[in-house]
Amino acid sequence: MRILIAEDDPFSLSMLAAVLKRHGHEVVETVDGAAALAAMQAPGAPALAILDWMMPEMDGPEVVRRIRALPTDRPPYLIMLTCRIAKSDIIAGLEAGANEYLAKPFDAGELTARVDVGRQMVEMQAAKAEINGLRQRLSMSEQDERRRIAASLHDCTVQDLVAIQLNLNRAFKMLGDTQPAVREILGDCAALAESNAGELRSLAYDLHAPWLQHGGLLSGIQEYARQFSIRTGISVSFDAPPAIPRLLEMNEIALYRVMQESLMNVHRHSGANRAWISISISNNRLHMEIRDGGGEAPDSFEPPPGSASGVGILSMHERMKAIGGSLQICRTPEGASSLAILPLAENK
Ligand SMILES: Nc1ncnc2c1ncn2[C@@H]1O[C@H](COP(=O)(O)OP(=O)(O)OP(=O)(O)O)[C@@H](O)[C@H]1O
Ligand SMILES: [Mg+2]
Repeated sequence: MRILIAEDDPFSLSMLAAVLKRHGHEVVETVDGAAALAAMQAPGAPALAILDWMMPEMDGPEVVRRIRALPTDRPPYLIMLTCRIAKSDIIAGLEAGANEYLAKPFDAGELTARVDVGRQMVEMQAAKAEINGLRQRLSMSEQDERRRIAASLHDCTVQDLVAIQLNLNRAFKMLGDTQPAVREILGDCAALAESNAGELRSLAYDLHAPWLQHGGLLSGIQEYARQFSIRTGISVSFDAPPAIPRLLEMNEIALYRVMQESLMNVHRHSGANRAWISISISNNRLHMEIRDGGGEAPDSFEPPPGSASGVGILSMHERMKAIGGSLQICRTPEGASSLAILPLAENK
């Protein structure tokens, strides 16, 4: 592994470098804080750094603080190695963002064991970042797929059904007052074609989420809730600030899908005739809650045993996790509540 050493004492630096090289590590040597910070920002920067406290240009805790302020999904493992071993120093070093604090003079065995712990942490962070990247790609390709299916349903299947309906109506008229049995069959078929075209049109809208794409999250949710109310008879109140910052597309999609699935659950499981959606931003986090007034909600939100369904809540959790957020589902005095929380700093 590539390891950075920041140490202004040449003797300590060469001892440290020798121990690490003996254990197969590649060492980047720096002798002041500013050079250490620059090396940790360079492309292909070391994933682990061992930093002295007192150094020219910038002290160790300041270097640690600045490294921690850099945006990354693979934070490096930082070890402070110093002769300042008062409890207050150790606390200050760890609070600055160091993962580990070691006293000088170091013991080679302990140091390499701590470096090994650091290597494992770095590998875990890398695996987590990779899984998150895959989740995000999956979510985007799922959205692309949904849009393709929606476009095909809307542009081909629905148009064909409308054409069939028009043809059936023409045939119906051509029969005039004759053949009442045939006219009845044609009338039934035309009505079926019409209702299927309507169903498919709303399915295409749900899959495509055009309001989300054009107007952003708030207008997307508001419009979906309006249509949901019309379709189900459940009145939905929507409470949100007049505007919120535009989020990354994948984040808006995830929140939108969580809202869709939550409302679908209200419709299918709660028996409620009222639901509330509220969106707010506080402490740099976006909160989206979907509540219903369905009365007594179950203790556990598990699908009935043996049921073939039950992926809705699981997939909501997955969606929120994939964008760095979380989801809590619980019962309330009035019914059930799904609360999605998304930290905004890195997601805007
Ligand atoms: N708003 C709600 N009110 C009451 N019960 C709910 C509510 N939402 C979910 N549940 C319960 O939680 C269970 C799990 O929900 P989940 O969305 O995971 O699966 P599902 O809706 O049964 O099936 P699927 O979403 O896969 O079509 C439901 O079967 C239901 O028993
Ligand atoms: Mg469900």
